[in-house]
Amino acid sequence: MIPELERAAKLADGYLASLDRALVSHEPSASSLRERLDKQLTDEGLPALQVLDELERDAREGLLQTSSGRFFGWVIGGSLPVALAADWLTSAWDQNAAAYACSPAAAIVEEVTGAWLKDILGLPAQASFAFVTGCQMAHVTALAAARHRLLAERDWIVEERGLAGSPPIRVLVGEHHETLVRALRLIGIGSQAKVEVGILDDGTIDVAALRTELAKNPAAPTIVALAAGDLNRGAFDPFDEVCDLAHEFGAWVHVDGAFGLWTAASKRFRHLVRGIEKADSWATDGHKWLNVPYDSGLAFVADPTPHRLAMTIPAAYKVEVKDVRDQFEWGPEWSRRARAIPIYAALRTLGRHGVARLIERSCDQARELVQRLAELPGVEVLATPVINQGLVRFLDPNGDHDARTQAVIERINHSGEAWFGPTIWHGQRVMRISLSNWQTSSSDLERTVAAVKAALEG
Ligand SMILES: Cc1ncc(COP(=O)(O)O)c(C=O)c1O
Repeated sequence: MIPELERAAKLADGYLASLDRALVSHEPSASSLRERLDKQLTDEGLPALQVLDELERDAREGLLQTSSGRFFGWVIGGSLPVALAADWLTSAWDQNAAAYACSPAAAIVEEVTGAWLKDILGLPAQASFAFVTGCQMAHVTALAAARHRLLAERDWIVEERGLAGSPPIRVLVGEHHETLVRALRLIGIGSQAKVEVGILDDGTIDVAALRTELAKNPAAPTIVALAAGDLNRGAFDPFDEVCDLAHEFGAWVHVDGAFGLWTAASKRFRHLVRGIEKADSWATDGHKWLNVPYDSGLAFVADPTPHRLAMTIPAAYKVEVKDVRDQFEWGPEWSRRARAIPIYAALRTLGRHGVARLIERSCDQARELVQRLAELPGVEVLATPVINQGLVRFLDPNGDHDARTQAVIERINHSGEAWFGPTIWHGQRVMRISLSNWQTSSSDLERTVAAVKAALEG
C-alpha cells in the first residue's frame, strides 16, 4: 500500500474510534492552534509521513467532533462509513466532474444518483439537478433558474443583459435561512428584494398574508421561498396550498429543504411535505441528514430549460458527446470534485428503506431526548421536535434564564460527554437539539441525559 495512504487510514481510524470516548471538552485557543500549525515553510520540504503525523497531532485539539453520535449542534450529520470510503475513492480517482468527456464514469454516476434522489425525495421525474457544494450553492443555482424564467417571460434575457434596468424581482419569505438571502445577493436580485410575510405561531408561513402580498402587485416577477424544516423547530410550510396560490400569480416557488426534504423518504413523515412536488425548485444537502462527507449540496429544478439556460456556458474546447449529461450545464462550476460518488455509495448501501430508517431514527431519538430532558428539574421545553430539531432552556430560580441556559450549555460541552449549540430564539437564550447522526445510539442518549443532569446539578 502507498505509505501515505496507509498512514492516513490509520490516523483516520484512530480519530473515528476516539469519538466514542470523550469529545473535546475545552475551547482551543486560536493562538495555541496557530503556534502548533504555523510552522516555518521549508525550502526543501519534509518527509510525507512526518507531515501527516504532525498534521494530525497539531490539528487534533482544534477539531470539533461533529461526527460523534453525541454531537447535537447546528444541523450536522456524521459520515456513513461507506460514504467516507467512497469519498476516499473519489479523491484517489481524482476525476474532473465538469463534463462527460473528462470522466464518463463520474458523469454517469451523477446521472444515476440524480434519478435515485428524485425518486427517494418524491420530486418530479423530469426535474433537472445539480450537485453543488452545499445548500447555499443549491439556492444560488435554483434561484438563478427562477431569475431566468421570471425575466425571460418579460422579454429580458438576464444572462445577456444583466439585471440593470430589468423588472425588479420580489422574493416573499416566511421562516428562512440566511443562505437564501445571500443567494439573492450573489445573483444580483439583492437582499432588499426580500419581503417577510407573516409567520403563524407554529413557524409556518401565513397563507392569508401571502395572498395579500401577492395581490398587492400581481404583475411583479415573484419568487415565493418556502421552508421544509426550519432550523429551530423543523416547521414545514403548507406546500400544497402555497404552490397553488403562488402559481395563480405566476410566481416561482422555491423550497429550502436543507435537511427537512429528507422526510419525503419516510412513509411516517412524508405527510409533512405534502404537495412539495408542485414547487418549481428545491435545495437540499447530502452532508446533513444523509450523512455523507461535506461538499454535498443538491439543487433540483422542475423545468430543466431555465435551469440549463441559467448555468450553461459555451466553450470552444468542449468535446461534444451525444446523448450524455455534461455536468457544467447544470451547476455553477467547471472543474470540480465528482461529489455524487459518496451519495451513490450511501444510497446503494442504505436502499430506500435504509434512508427512511435513518430519518425516522433521528426523529424518534430527538423526541426521546427532549422528553427525557423535560423530566429533569428546571428544564423548559420550547419546541418538541416535529422532526429532528428541538429547543429547551434552563430556568434560573432568580429569573435570569438566559445566563443559566448559557452556563448549563457550557458545562455540558466542557464535560466532553455531549455537545449542544446555543441560539437566541424569540428573544431568549435557548439550547438547540439537533439530531442527524447515523450512529447516535441509545447509550449515547443515556450518556447525554446524564451529562445534562450533572450540568444542572453542578
Ligand atoms: C435550513 C437551512 N438552509 C440552508 C442551509 C445552508 O446549508 P449549507 O451549509 O449546506 O450551505 C442550512 C445550514 O445549516 C440550513 O439549516
